[in-house]
Amino acid sequence: MFDTSQFPKAKKYWYNGQFYDWDQAPIHPMTHGLHYGTSVFEGIRAYPTVKGPAIFRLKEHIDRFFYSAGVAKMSLPWSREEIGQAIKEVIKVNNLTSAYIRPLLFYAYGNLGLVPKFCPIHLVIGAWEWGAYLGDKAHEGVTVYILPWRRLHWSQLDMSAKLGGMYIQSTICGLEARMKGADEAVFLNLEGRIAEGPGENIFIIKDGLLITNDRRESILEGITRSSLLEIAADLGFKTSVNPISKEQFLGADEAFFCGTAVEVVAITQVIDASEGEPKKYLIGSGQVGPYTLKLKDAYHQCVRGQNPAYEKWLTYVYD
Ligand SMILES: Cc1ncc(COP(=O)(O)O)c(C=O)c1O
Repeated sequence: MFDTSQFPKAKKYWYNGQFYDWDQAPIHPMTHGLHYGTSVFEGIRAYPTVKGPAIFRLKEHIDRFFYSAGVAKMSLPWSREEIGQAIKEVIKVNNLTSAYIRPLLFYAYGNLGLVPKFCPIHLVIGAWEWGAYLGDKAHEGVTVYILPWRRLHWSQLDMSAKLGGMYIQSTICGLEARMKGADEAVFLNLEGRIAEGPGENIFIIKDGLLITNDRRESILEGITRSSLLEIAADLGFKTSVNPISKEQFLGADEAFFCGTAVEVVAITQVIDASEGEPKKYLIGSGQVGPYTLKLKDAYHQCVRGQNPAYEKWLTYVYD
């Protein structure tokens, strides 16, 4: 019934403590979360290592999941340990060596008033093998589209939480960017500075200095972002957490996206549609730059357990 071509190797998912075949769907169409995006979620990756699959920064992802649940006023009927264990089980049951893992917590079937008074909270965990998020050519660098619409502001909604409904802005704008011939969108914030991609954080590099912004710029401060800040410092690169103006972005030597799904992907071209007629720019030479390449390699080694300094961030599935 359900085609798994976009979910390679997915055979079973975990739902409220039980495993279901991928084909089974025990959810009613009147589920509250389906109508209003009243859900919170996480995106986590596991990578192959010599000790079998390892989940990258599981603790930080579970902590953020609990934080998001709190923002959505959902109390979780499962502990951090139970969720961590269930995630490992999902990888084992599907026999995955690498995986994208999706825990989703939502108001389920009960009532359809906006206040989910009669809706229980359900938890689903799925995992499958997910390759390059922005496509197989993304390693050559991507073109981004600076949107005319501004990112939701931190004064309107807690942008540090992964709230399901909030992602409709990411979906609409991601589609718009692709319709305009770009690979991905970039949001400015209400202040007119660079915020983030629909599901990615942004770094720029200028004269050897790596700059990324923080939550005061209406972004989700990603776990990949903070890992890269540490990796960059260990590589001896200078880093700074500061706002990034649009002009700084367009005039950068290099820029890249980072995130669990996208990993590290160079931004090499920009279509700026934030005001007036869209204009095209190259970032630096328009090629993937040396800092981006070094960080990409270092991240690749880190998540695969090839650098003992970062083994602290790995949770092995078969311990
Ligand atoms: C809006 C947004 N920004 C940034 C990120 C990157 O965060 P992380 O590195 O924790 O995956 C994500 C992905 O979770 C996201 O959805």
